[in-house]
Amino acid sequence: MDKLEVMIPEDQIISRVKEVAAEISRDYNGEPVTVIGVLTGAFIFCADLVRNLDLPVKIDFVQVSSYVGDTSTGELKIKKDISSDIKGENVLLVEDIIDTGRTLLKLRQMLSERGPKSIKICTAFDKPSRRVVELVPDYNCFTIPDSFVVGYGLDYDGEYRQFKDVKIVRIDDEQQP
Ligand code: IMP
Ligand code: MG
Repeated sequence: MDKLEVMIPEDQIISRVKEVAAEISRDYNGEPVTVIGVLTGAFIFCADLVRNLDLPVKIDFVQVSSYVGDTSTGELKIKKDISSDIKGENVLLVEDIIDTGRTLLKLRQMLSERGPKSIKICTAFDKPSRRVVELVPDYNCFTIPDSFVVGYGLDYDGEYRQFKDVKIVRIDDEQQP
């Protein structure tokens, strides 16, 4: 069994998401926004975030190639593209966690070629110490240290997404992944 330790409890996540949603609502000041969630990890954060936005909101999802285990491939493949036309729209890309930054850098580049009015990034968690490309989210709920975490949508090999708290994973022999 993997050992799991709580890093951020549910109540802290809920209140911080509300704060960030309020900040986003203030910034967009009534302008409509197209929220694009990055599947699968962002599904829970996206659901919580949009329900706290005081703005006209459209929601779409994109799915890109993900990690096998805990290692980034560095390659971005689109598994599921968005269904909407974002030309002239304010796009808010919503991600579960930013690690190396490669995924969102490429995704933002790809989507900006479709002519949105604006494009911003909102992440639930950020591990800036792991960054290999220059990418700073416009909105970030929690900056966390370099540990592998699960819960609140985040998985380890497909498991643990449903946890309400965010937990650090320590694999069987107590080595971190
Ligand atoms: P990046 O391109 O390295 O920034 O990759 C970010 C993606 O890696 C996230 O969307 C997650 O799917 C995955 N990821 C990075 N760190 C973690 C973690 O600690 N737990 C679970 N997934 C992670
Ligand atoms: Mg992801």
